[in-house]
Amino acid sequence: MELQGKRIALGVTGGVAAYKAAELVRLLLKQGATVQVAMTDAATHFVTPVTFQALSGQPVFTDQWDARIGNNMAHIDLSREADALLVAPASADFLAKVAHGLADDLLSTLVLARDCPLLVAPAMNRQMWENPATRRNVATLRADGVAVLGPGCGDQACGETGLGRMLEPEEIVAELIAHFQPKPLKGRRLLLTAGPTFEAIDPVRGITNLSTGKMGYAIARAAHEAGAEVTLVSGPVALPCPYGVTRIDVTSALQMRDAVLAQTAGSDVFVAVAAVADYRPAAPAEQKIKKDGGTPPAIELTLNPDILAEVAALPHPPLCVGFAAESQKLDEYAEKKRRAKKIPLIVGNLIQNGFGGDDNTLVLFDDDGRHPLPPASKIDLARRLVAHIATLLEKN
Ligand code: C5P
Repeated sequence: MELQGKRIALGVTGGVAAYKAAELVRLLLKQGATVQVAMTDAATHFVTPVTFQALSGQPVFTDQWDARIGNNMAHIDLSREADALLVAPASADFLAKVAHGLADDLLSTLVLARDCPLLVAPAMNRQMWENPATRRNVATLRADGVAVLGPGCGDQACGETGLGRMLEPEEIVAELIAHFQPKPLKGRRLLLTAGPTFEAIDPVRGITNLSTGKMGYAIARAAHEAGAEVTLVSGPVALPCPYGVTRIDVTSALQMRDAVLAQTAGSDVFVAVAAVADYRPAAPAEQKIKKDGGTPPAIELTLNPDILAEVAALPHPPLCVGFAAESQKLDEYAEKKRRAKKIPLIVGNLIQNGFGGDDNTLVLFDDDGRHPLPPASKIDLARRLVAHIATLLEKN
């Protein structure tokens, strides 16, 4: 329920992606928002107002002269109530209108008369998106402070492939949630590791652990919400990459270390969340190991590099944040680890409280001491951690 109490005015313009706006309404309601839909005339040719009325539970407005609004001021009343005005899909024609301040139907008038933030999710054919006129209009909108969400890249209704596809409803909702978050990491670059590593024994077997990557992915999302440019070096997990985050997939600790070291220059913060395997098989077999007679093979292990300690020891390291997952004596072990790795902040968690689940309990340890965070969902904790990191960055 991350949009609890938020009032969203949703504008739908004419494009095939209008059908996805129906799902968008459902997802917004699921997050606790109330949704007031206004459609352009063109949009009603793709999806009927009845669909949006049924989904939103609110009357849908399409006409500037709608007599249902007592003072006939639909353009003012509908956006005055809203915390944000979201137009999805936003056609090329509609973006052009908004860029030029035209107000010749209900939705464009609503945009011009609003006193709340405007977010648009463009949806159009790739050539329309690339057209210099659209490029100019989008640049104008950005300069005017309009948040342009996407567009995405992929198959289009016209049979072509390219940029211009409306973001998926889930991505639009994530960006709207992000819009309401504070931006203490604006202009900062944050690098992080997440998930387990997998250390090969032979081509089909290996050593790994039960890390799901959820905490790391939540931090990546929270950092993106806070305005950072985020690069996530991820071990093998079954999670989608948070929208707006650049993910680099790796398998082993050695690959993770190479990917991290290639990204540290220019990073302001490095958060090591990954559960990196301490050891790897010294000489992975090139061929599958056979059961031959049932004698168990001996697997010789060798120590993996400590990625976090290596980054912290660089001549100009980013602000380094480590994790200490412990099963007992959290304070003692976490602080010991913080000192051993020479890092300013370590995040301690008792594994029985957080491993694999959606909730967690964290304690932050830095030079000022111990800062326990109340038990919460991983995304809430991630946002608090990001806020703490931002204050440490300010102090540095
Ligand atoms: O030493 P320990 O594994 O307990 O430390 C945990 C912290 O160090 C985590 O932040 C983890 O991501 C990081 N780490 C690392 N490389 C390793 C082992 C741990 O970056 N090889």
